[in-house]
Amino acid sequence: MNEYFVITTPGIEEVTKQELAALGINATTEYGGLTFKGDASDMYKANYFLRTANRVLSRIGQPFYARSFQELTERIYNLPWEKHFDLRFDFEFQVSCSHSKLMHTGVITKFAAQALDQKLNAKCKPTKLEKSIKQLINLRIDHDKLTASIDSSGQILYKRGYRQEVTRSPIRETLAAALVMVSGWDQASPLIDPFCGSGTIPLEGSQMAFNIPAGYHRGFAFTDWLDFDYKTWKSIKDGVKIDFEKKIEVFGYDRDAGAIEIAQSNAQRAGVADRVTFECQALSYLTNKNRHGWIVTNPPYGHRLQEGNDLRNLYAQLGKVLKAETPGWTLALVTNDIKLSGHSGLKFEQLNQVSNGGIKTVFEKCVIPKS
Ligand SMILES: C[S@@+](CC[C@H](N)C(=O)[O-])C[C@H]1O[C@@H](n2cnc3c(N)ncnc32)[C@H](O)[C@@H]1O
Repeated sequence: MNEYFVITTPGIEEVTKQELAALGINATTEYGGLTFKGDASDMYKANYFLRTANRVLSRIGQPFYARSFQELTERIYNLPWEKHFDLRFDFEFQVSCSHSKLMHTGVITKFAAQALDQKLNAKCKPTKLEKSIKQLINLRIDHDKLTASIDSSGQILYKRGYRQEVTRSPIRETLAAALVMVSGWDQASPLIDPFCGSGTIPLEGSQMAFNIPAGYHRGFAFTDWLDFDYKTWKSIKDGVKIDFEKKIEVFGYDRDAGAIEIAQSNAQRAGVADRVTFECQALSYLTNKNRHGWIVTNPPYGHRLQEGNDLRNLYAQLGKVLKAETPGWTLALVTNDIKLSGHSGLKFEQLNQVSNGGIKTVFEKCVIPKS
């Protein structure tokens, strides 16, 4: 058993917790993340399946006190680095300190890197191969206690591999997935995003419905580790049952033809191009030919003051169109300004408060009344 820490976006910890529970992993929530005890296969699954996590860190050794650089060097040296790494690994350190004697992250990195280097030189066979495998090490010192972790994810997990082109103000894939999850979409009724931009919300929703793992189109740092268990990893991947028989009705609209082209290219890479409909259409043309469903969306944010008026009108139009066309449907949206969404005339319940690329946002939800 090892301890793992799943880094998530502050505000959606409980959504990530539910995702972990669905994988059979019982986790404890902390601010911005969750801790769980498990084996390597749990860590592989967390990386591969979690749609709302940013990274999975694997603790190395037990936390220890480091009140001087000598203590830090000795203790870092004693950690079992050689279990995972050899001389081909090229380390990058991410260090954070609070309420501690050692507070200078640059000097801590220098001493820790030297100790790790010495340990691997002492324990590993020399090699002529270059240091070519990037590996992130996370050190957190709090009240002089140091917790060392190795990053098992590699590239941050919201980089799924399918979204290689974006429009202005894209939503993070992790937040798009969290919004679809908290909307309660039943994966059978229609899902519409009338402001789809590069298509993130429809693409996350359709991958969820077809059971395509979040990490299906990307790699992970742990597959380079010396103790990587290929058999376990293969059995996890082989166990995935992508269900393209499932009939889903997922639509993304945007008034910008360029955005729709980008969404279609992203859909191609996400493996759902012929199963999600992206069309160039302004909000005012939204019509409902369907029974009952969900609107899940990320309307334009106001970045500049002079945009305020236009956006107020856009939200008023959103309320009007949805009341006329989709009464009884569920609406879930993410906004950076609840006063703006109030201009829709819809009565929202406020759910998670999250940061989307540094912008404070809120998830809001309501059942759309009749006009
Ligand atoms: C915040 S962006 C959506 C970003 C998207 N979630 C993504 O991940 O790329 C808002 C989108 O609304 C579109 N938009 C603005 N006004 C619109 C309107 N009246 N009808 C349809 N789309 C509109 C913009 O072109 C823009 O792509």
